[in-house]
Amino acid sequence: MESRAMVLEEGKERTTNQVKGLPITLLRVLILFVTICAVFSVISIYTLKHFGIESVVTTSVMKSSFQPCRGEQDRLLDLEDWIRPNSNPIHNMSDKELLWRASFGSRIKDYPFKRVPKVAFMFLTKGPLPLAPLWERFFKGNERLYSIYVHSLPSFQPQFSRSSVFYNRQIPSKVAEWGRMSMCDAERRLLANALLDIYNEQFVLLSESCIPLYNFSFVYNYIMESKHSFMSVFDDPGPYGRGRYRNEMAPLVNITQWRKGSQWFEVNRKIATSIVEDTRYYPIFEKYCRPACYVDEHYFPTMLSIEAGKALANRSLTWVDWSRGGAHPASFGKSDIREEFIVRIRSRHHCKYMKGTPQFVFFLQENFLLVL
Ligand SMILES: *[C@@H]1O[C@H](CO)[C@@H](O)[C@H](O)[C@H]1NC(C)=O
Ligand SMILES: *[C@@H]1O[C@H](CO)[C@@H](O)[C@H](O)[C@H]1NC(C)=O
Ligand SMILES: *[C@@H]1O[C@H](CO)[C@@H](O)[C@H](O)[C@H]1NC(C)=O
Ligand SMILES: *[C@@H]1O[C@H](CO)[C@@H](O)[C@H](O)[C@H]1NC(C)=O
Repeated sequence: MESRAMVLEEGKERTTNQVKGLPITLLRVLILFVTICAVFSVISIYTLKHFGIESVVTTSVMKSSFQPCRGEQDRLLDLEDWIRPNSNPIHNMSDKELLWRASFGSRIKDYPFKRVPKVAFMFLTKGPLPLAPLWERFFKGNERLYSIYVHSLPSFQPQFSRSSVFYNRQIPSKVAEWGRMSMCDAERRLLANALLDIYNEQFVLLSESCIPLYNFSFVYNYIMESKHSFMSVFDDPGPYGRGRYRNEMAPLVNITQWRKGSQWFEVNRKIATSIVEDTRYYPIFEKYCRPACYVDEHYFPTMLSIEAGKALANRSLTWVDWSRGGAHPASFGKSDIREEFIVRIRSRHHCKYMKGTPQFVFFLQENFLLVL
């Protein structure tokens, strides 16, 4: 019995000894750990304080040494700096950067300053502007009501004199090919540059062979007073309309939504912004609308009739004579262009809409060089 109890006691003893032995080692490790932690935290607190003080010292030193520049930095917060139009449209932004920047807009309708809205005249050209003298006369005396942007082949070196309205109005340009996405890119580039000027309210796309059919004040009032943007939009069921649609464009664009229109548009600031900020339709049109689908005739008309149909007049302000057939508009020579010719175009009135007002205010033809 006794021996058994001894054994039991011993067993107990041993087990308690084992149990006791474990915490002692653990305790030692724990104490070591806590000590290490304490040492580390003391060190880190000290370092933090030390460096913290040091960085505060550095910033205050930096601040005081940059003091003279602060006035200039603060000027960026003046309203004047946000709204001042750029006198020279040259910049170093890539297309991606430019479109992003141009997509900024104010969300409050009323401007907190006196804003006389301007019309941006955007010339999409190959190079020279043969009709520049005519446009100079058109713009004369209306300096606060318009701005001009010219997109030409990058190789073209403009030679405008300092007194010309076209002087320093060239925007950074790239090659634009007829019927290809690069043409729409050029148009978006023009819109984006023009959007950077907060005074621009209306945006007209023109080419070097366009002429105004009316004087400036007439054109200005016509555009400003219209509730609609002048984008030509129609549904052509034939091979040159719906025939260019590709099923891959669904479901974003249905064949019933597919539209065609003339390239020459006039849009307000809101529509201009929606063209510039588009990232939904662009990839689809770029991928599936390639010759013989001429993307500049379909991309904006289709996208805008889906997104902003009610805001469109569905017609262009620029008269192009397609009556002679073919892929290019009719050209007129010196003998054609007489007063009665202009009067005839001017007398085209739109029946349904804006009764009594002319349908067109610009006229485009190819080879206008012949005329002057
Ligand atoms: C634009 O970039 C060019 C070269 O990349 C440089 O020479 C020029 O100074 C830059 N202009 C501005 C306004 O930053
Ligand atoms: C502009 O043209 C309109 C219509 O043709 C005319 O009534 C107006 O007097 C002209 N304004 C100027 C300043 O020439
Ligand atoms: C798209 O077309 C299909 C027929 O092809 C039609 O059932 C559908 O309603 C159309 N959707 C829209 C939004 O027009
Ligand atoms: C242009 O067409 C759209 C439909 O796509 C329509 O909502 C709009 O009212 C039309 N504009 C005018 C001025 O009739």
